[in-house]
Amino acid sequence: MTAGNGGPYDEVVGTAMTTVTEAEVLRDALGLLKDREQVAKRLLDSSAKHSFDPDSELDWDAPYEDGKWFWPPELVSLYDTPLWKRMGEEQRILLSQHEAAALASLGIWFEIILMQLLVRHIYDKAATSAHVRYALTEIEDECRHSKMFARLIAHGDTPWYPVSRAHQNLGRVFKTISTTPGSFTATLLGEEVLDWMQRLTFPDERVQPLVRGVTRIHVVEEARHVRYAREELRRQMLTAPRWSQEFTRITSGEFARVFSVAFVNPEVYTNVGLDKREAVAQVRASGHRREVMQTGAKRLTDFLDDIGVLRGMGRRLWRSSGLLA
Ligand SMILES: [Fe+2]
Ligand SMILES: [Fe+2]
Repeated sequence: MTAGNGGPYDEVVGTAMTTVTEAEVLRDALGLLKDREQVAKRLLDSSAKHSFDPDSELDWDAPYEDGKWFWPPELVSLYDTPLWKRMGEEQRILLSQHEAAALASLGIWFEIILMQLLVRHIYDKAATSAHVRYALTEIEDECRHSKMFARLIAHGDTPWYPVSRAHQNLGRVFKTISTTPGSFTATLLGEEVLDWMQRLTFPDERVQPLVRGVTRIHVVEEARHVRYAREELRRQMLTAPRWSQEFTRITSGEFARVFSVAFVNPEVYTNVGLDKREAVAQVRASGHRREVMQTGAKRLTDFLDDIGVLRGMGRRLWRSSGLLA
């Protein structure tokens, strides 16, 4: 890769100024790309075999079990802070329940945005292609997920935790004007960190069976979404116009900052009887929390680094989000 100059690849073909070296670099890079239709066909096969109906798959009638967590304690925002040490077990578990509801609410927000991005992505593409049919399949998955998360929130009498008005409006603009690489970068950001947490949640025997069931279904189906988005983003970062690649670097850094602020709705602290300002300050100062978020984002940031998203100004924004070490 010709690091540093922002990606010459878009102008390689047919541009007299392009050097042979750059053309060779592009040819090698494109050689790494998997065929779009082949990827989509494999994902369609996998969807046909491993898709779940949460309404019939999960036992929604079973009551919650006393003493079980709703999210692994180490992944609860306040874990290991001075405030956490003062809380009793019951209040800690209650906080885990509200954080799970807040993350489910955040998940629904992401999924609604993602569905619109996917609809926009396929708008002018041949509906007969596997690539479009898979996008429609992914939208079906996300419809089931959002309904499943909503049912989970309501099941425990926890409230709906919307993102702030400002973030809602930012999302409204973004999902309307975003470029294709920008859309897939945001998709991965929304999917991969939560996915990392869910992979730790579903096998955890300390956690409520219903939460384990929800996260297991989500992990299985999300693996395909991550694959689809990664393949497409890798392709886009080689073929999109240079301005669009640079725009992706900066906007993705800005999403990372919004993401890390919006990740846990601070109302959860008030609702479990804690002082919201003190709790937010302790989460911000928590070394454990920083490590959790950076570890959760590592697979994603490694990938984005590899395909050239984390450069220049974009990289600085990612750093300031706290997701990149
Ligand atoms: Fe989902
Ligand atoms: Fe997804």
